[in-house]
Amino acid sequence: MSEPVLSVSGLRLGYGRNDVVSDVAISVAAGTVVSLIGANGAGKTTILRGISGLLRPRAGSVRFKGRDVAGEAAHVIARRGIVQVPEGRQVFANMSVDENLSMGAYRCPGPIASRRDAVLARFPRLAERLDQQAGLMSGGEQQMLAIGRALMAEPEILLMDEPSMGLAPLIVEEIFRVIGQLREEGRTVLLVEQNAASALAIADRAYVLESGRVVIEGTGREVAENPRVLAAYLGM
Ligand SMILES: Nc1ncnc2c1ncn2[C@@H]1O[C@H](COP(=O)(O)OP(=O)(O)O)[C@@H](O)[C@H]1O
Ligand SMILES: [Mg+2]
Repeated sequence: MSEPVLSVSGLRLGYGRNDVVSDVAISVAAGTVVSLIGANGAGKTTILRGISGLLRPRAGSVRFKGRDVAGEAAHVIARRGIVQVPEGRQVFANMSVDENLSMGAYRCPGPIASRRDAVLARFPRLAERLDQQAGLMSGGEQQMLAIGRALMAEPEILLMDEPSMGLAPLIVEEIFRVIGQLREEGRTVLLVEQNAASALAIADRAYVLESGRVVIEGTGREVAENPRVLAAYLGM
C-alpha cells in the first residue's frame, strides 16, 4: 500500500490535568473510508480535534502528506486540506444555505461557482433551499449542509464527526449513501460514529476506541466480525 495520506502515532490528548487519549495510532490511505467507533466519551471527538488542530496534541505526531502538522494552528491545517465536519453539524444558524456554503470556501482560493454547483448537484435539497435560514432546517438537511460546506473547501481528507447522530433511520441511510459516494469518487474520509454497524459496513479500515485507546483494529469486515465488537457494539 502507498504511504497513507494521514497517519497519527503516539497521539496523546487531554483537557486540563487529564489525558483522555493515549498512544493512539491511526492511519488513513488515500481514497479510503476509515471508521473510528467507540462509546460516548471514548475520546473520538477529541482525536478529531487533535488532528484538525482545534486541540494541541500533548505528544505524538500527526503526519499529513509526509509532514508533521501536530501543533500547527487549526486554520493552517484546514488550508492544507484537512477539513472537519463537526459533531452536531454546527451550521451558521442565522445564515442562509448559500451563505453557509460560501463560508466553507473562504479559505480556499479560486472560483467557487463550480464547487458550489457540484455541491448543489450532490444535495438537491440544498439547491431547493438556497435562501432558507440554515437554523430552521431539519437535522438531516443541516447535516447535508455541513458536509456540503466542508466540500466547498476542497478537502484532501474529510473528518466526519458522528454525521448520523440524532437523525431518523431513513436520513441516516441517506447520509451513509453520501459517504459511500464520496468513497467511490476516490475521496478520503475519517469517519467517527456511534452507529457501529453502518460505520463498519462502509469502512475499508476500522479502529475501536475504548477509554482513549485503540483496542481493536483491522479491515471493516475483520472488526465487524470480532467477537468483542459483536457483543459490545453490534448487540449480538
Ligand atoms: N472541553 C472539554 N473539557 C474537559 N473534558 C472534556 C472536554 N471535551 C471532552 N472532554 C472529556 O473527554 C472525554 C472524551 O470526550 P469526547 O472526545 O467528546 O468523546 P466521544 O467523542 O468519543 O464521545 C470525555 O470524558 C469527556 O468528558
Ligand atoms: Mg464525540
